[in-house]
Amino acid sequence: MIVTVNGVRTDTAPAPGQCLRTLLRQHGHTEVKRGCDTGDCGACTVLVDGAAVHSCVYPALRAADRAVTTAAGLGTPDDLHPVQQRFVDAGGFQCGYCTAGLVVTAAALADAPGPTCANRASEAPGAAADLPRLLKGNLCRCTGYRSIEDALHGTVNTEKGGGPGRSLPPPAARRVVAGLEPYTLDGSTPVAPLHLVVLRSPHAHARITSMDAAPAWAVPGVHAVLTPDDVPAVPYSTARHQHRTDDPDDTLMLDRVVRFRGQRVAAVVAETVAAAERACRAIMVDYAELPAVFDPERAAEPGAPLVHGDKVDTAAELRIADPAANLVAQRHAELGDVEAGLRAATTVVEGTWRTQRVAHASLETHAAVGWLEPDGRLVVRTSTQVPFLVRDELARLLSLRPERVRVLTARVGGGFGGKQELLVEDLVAVAVLRTGRPVQHELTRTESLTATPCRHPMRVGVRVGADADGVLTALAIDVLADAGAYGNHSPGVMFHGCHESMALYRCANKRVDARSVYTHNLPSGAFRGYGLGQIQFGIESALDELARKLGIDPIELRRRNVVRPGDPVLADAPDDPAAPSDLVFGGSYGLDQCLDLVDTALRAPSVPAGPPGPEWLVGTGVAAAMIATIPPRGHFADASVTLEPDGGYTVRVGTAEFGNGTTTVHTQIAAAVLGTEPDRVTVRQSDTDVVGYDTGAFGSAGSVVAGRAVHAAATALREAILLAAGRLGDLDPAAAKLGPVGVQSGEVFVPLTTLAAAGAPLVGHGRHDGTPRSLAFNVHGFRVAVHPGTGEIRVLRSVHAADAGTVLNPEQLRGQIEGGVAQALGGARFEELIVRDGRVVTDVLRQYHLPQFADVPRTEVLFAATADDLGPFGAKSMSEAPYNPVAPALANAVRDAIGVRPYELPMSDDRIWRLCAGRPGALPPAAADPGG
Ligand code: FES
Repeated sequence: MIVTVNGVRTDTAPAPGQCLRTLLRQHGHTEVKRGCDTGDCGACTVLVDGAAVHSCVYPALRAADRAVTTAAGLGTPDDLHPVQQRFVDAGGFQCGYCTAGLVVTAAALADAPGPTCANRASEAPGAAADLPRLLKGNLCRCTGYRSIEDALHGTVNTEKGGGPGRSLPPPAARRVVAGLEPYTLDGSTPVAPLHLVVLRSPHAHARITSMDAAPAWAVPGVHAVLTPDDVPAVPYSTARHQHRTDDPDDTLMLDRVVRFRGQRVAAVVAETVAAAERACRAIMVDYAELPAVFDPERAAEPGAPLVHGDKVDTAAELRIADPAANLVAQRHAELGDVEAGLRAATTVVEGTWRTQRVAHASLETHAAVGWLEPDGRLVVRTSTQVPFLVRDELARLLSLRPERVRVLTARVGGGFGGKQELLVEDLVAVAVLRTGRPVQHELTRTESLTATPCRHPMRVGVRVGADADGVLTALAIDVLADAGAYGNHSPGVMFHGCHESMALYRCANKRVDARSVYTHNLPSGAFRGYGLGQIQFGIESALDELARKLGIDPIELRRRNVVRPGDPVLADAPDDPAAPSDLVFGGSYGLDQCLDLVDTALRAPSVPAGPPGPEWLVGTGVAAAMIATIPPRGHFADASVTLEPDGGYTVRVGTAEFGNGTTTVHTQIAAAVLGTEPDRVTVRQSDTDVVGYDTGAFGSAGSVVAGRAVHAAATALREAILLAAGRLGDLDPAAAKLGPVGVQSGEVFVPLTTLAAAGAPLVGHGRHDGTPRSLAFNVHGFRVAVHPGTGEIRVLRSVHAADAGTVLNPEQLRGQIEGGVAQALGGARFEELIVRDGRVVTDVLRQYHLPQFADVPRTEVLFAATADDLGPFGAKSMSEAPYNPVAPALANAVRDAIGVRPYELPMSDDRIWRLCAGRPGALPPAAADPGG
């Protein structure tokens, strides 16, 4: 058939049943992204004869004799379509994986006649109100949509040039909006890759008694079948940390025992995905089903089915707390005397809060492609936050020297902690070594939702007491986390989640009882906030209830109890009382400002919107959060900056870019130190062959750890340049000034190009070890209206104050906060991976409700005026922290509105309706959910 793509007549023959997206990507149009396969996310949006369609559900054959336009057909980086330019100017993306689809949708709106022309909003007053409907088909997981709305309205948020403090757009912005910035599977391989598909377990717990791969080998196009006999039997954890011993080695690449539905059983490598899928179905597997446990409370009881009962004898070696009790990790520690503190209290609040499973839902699923270099070295390009840690673990699993493995990333389409795991790279590596051919493995959206780690569900019991003045006398938590079938990240999530949530408050008597237990559910893992979001939901709710009982304003109660500079930062008893804490307040403490900012904003008379009607109940709620801005026990970054022959600079740094914005910030830091403009700085990153070691982009470390390393490297280079100029130009380096194109001292000027050509390369190196740690703070406030007859919650006002130290890039930081708030609102209101008997039933995005444009209220973002002694230019990190106070702030506002406290997430309409039972417009109490 003939299809015209971006004006080019293309003769093609689609495979039977092939969708237009796959056809376009086969023809090199990698600007058409794969996000869901079901027409829900919009990352694959293209124009067909001018109409926007989701090309993943549009049959390729229907495009015959039609004109298809992709993002790359709208404009090029040098000649952008006006809509694309608006996305650059507004800063309308973070990871950018949704952007090529969004600009196509927006372009269609721009060309549409009538008042629905969204990006002519200033000309068409009715347009803005129509955006929730018009953008329903395009999801963005990163931004919270405000910057996208700004792009559609033509608002300019970014600034040209400048160093820290200015809203520089990302260096890749023009390529991202044109769809030409490559993501993991958009780059080339030496020859066309084979495709790897995984056969997954239909059982939650079973022993594989036999496996016959012969029928799979008989499928045409099959190059390899991988069974447990074909891969290394080396225990490891999918979780990646600087210290690999932080996580239990409870996983095998392919195990003979399956412990959750969706676990890998075998894999096939074939010429096409279809052939590999067909061969997977042909593998004959016999299972002996075993008893399973899905409830963490039951799993913790004596006699429960054991998830890792085969590891009882090797528990210490594998670092599992107690496999005979399904226990991954635990902590029980007390500071002071909690029971005495509770007895001394005039008011005590006790309660149990529950949080659900939440999916990361990065629009780019986990994917990797690998190949061999001519000398036999293994190369893996993967969608990861931690390329160096993946390289080191691949080398360990495959018994290779690390220098025989190269791991790199392209731009990563979202992470949120989900890509701090090794989930696809290992099988790709084995398949490459087995076949000698490039091999690609891309998880489907359903695999992503059902077989990759989610946020830990937790049960959080809180007991808190205070005297009549509201001063805390005791604070205790009892946490039970569902680790799922494997313990990846479970110890860290549990410890971290308990730590800063408890350490936020000064109290002489504190106790933490926390357990993380195995079940036969899909594994839990790292998720934005690393446990704090769940535990703070309980603690911040309990404090709100305490304030109510005491008749003290909730913000005032926090003012009286939050930690202050000079306080120890302790969740419970210190492990080593003699050891000084590596947590310090540095030169910045902005929590008091954050509380004041939210307090003032919520009291302001200019509330933008009142309740929709007289039957609505209105309430206000706040919550606070603290986060240590650098992960404990080591987060390392080595960076270098080189003066190039053309007088520009190249920064080499390991941090992956996945919407965290570190590329922009590192550019700004280097430019400021070197006295030049950002467009003279190029960043090369996240390639183990090309840049210095970096632990990875997690724990909000990209700006403060790698940023410090970049700062140090640029400073070293600056000194080297001045010294070299001194020698060459016979000038005093101490009196000379480094400018954008050369060194000036009095009348003497030495061009950078001359220095670069004069001799040895001019390179500065910098390193940072991530310690000591500083603390960042967030406070969120909501005013809401709740309809008691439906349970609907409408956000009338959302305000978020952040203490991030010096704000290096205001628009980017605002976007990070808005995105964190939007993601947290999804988890607070409706996101839930529903699991029944171990089966994830919300296995497509249509069933897993990601926040759409219409779901996300605009949040007013305010910054504390602080500067930190530790971070680069006084900055602290702020990428995951905004998530944490949102759910409790919303719950507290709902409690204020309806007089009943939500104890369970998500606060869906039906749950809130049940809480409202007995109120006018709701069913009588007898109809309420007894568990609600
Ligand atoms: Fe929209 Fe990442 S920027 S999904």
